[in-house]
Amino acid sequence: MKILLFLGLLAFANAQYSEVRHIALDAVDKLREVLPDYQNAQDVTINKLYESKRKALGELNSFYNRTLDLKANSLKSLMNAELDILSYGDSIEVWCWENNIPSLQGDMGWAGNKYSECIKQLDDSIEKDVAEIYGQFTESEAKIQKYKLLQVFFKPSNIISKPEPMADTISKLKIDITNDIPHFEDIIIRFVEDLHAKQFEYTCCLNDLLKEFNNRMETLRSRSEICLKSQK
Ligand SMILES: *[C@@H]1O[C@H](CO)[C@@H](O)[C@H](O)[C@H]1NC(C)=O
Repeated sequence: MKILLFLGLLAFANAQYSEVRHIALDAVDKLREVLPDYQNAQDVTINKLYESKRKALGELNSFYNRTLDLKANSLKSLMNAELDILSYGDSIEVWCWENNIPSLQGDMGWAGNKYSECIKQLDDSIEKDVAEIYGQFTESEAKIQKYKLLQVFFKPSNIISKPEPMADTISKLKIDITNDIPHFEDIIIRFVEDLHAKQFEYTCCLNDLLKEFNNRMETLRSRSEICLKSQK
């Protein structure tokens, strides 16, 4: 009787043993099976992230390009106004012209400083925007790396004594991680809007510069006109 009971228990234990060990091995195989999907999901997510990064950098470069256009156009206007004044050199008397020259040089120096101020203001104001969007890319990349596949074996169980929760975790493993990176479309739209707003401020800065410069040129022009009239 005693022996029978013992044998019965042994058979029961044996059956349980093989079932539990089977679950453990299945869990390992199961994880191997999801590996290609997992890699694919990472590829898709990384591609999405890099595509957004390229797009943001493209927008930044367009912004630089437009900024250079604005600067070049403003410089051309300024140089035309300077040439207008310089042309008086051909017709007014030397003493009058030599009075104007230091003023003109002073005004050109003033304009040069003003150009530096305007561009520095612009650069300072976009520095924060650029740092912010780069920060978001870095954060998202860190998020993708955070998915460590082997972690399913750490917790919540021991693969030998209690493989069921582990198998359960593996079966629920999150393969699609594309939604874990933010919507960069919206972020880029806001980034571009910010760049435009700051470029507008830069345009205003250049317009103020030209307005003041033209006032100064008007002074030189009226002085030159007075000289011209008195020469006749
Ligand atoms: C910069 O802008 C000009 C037009 O102002 C355009 O012709 C040129 O292709 C642009 N360059 C880049 C690199 O975007």
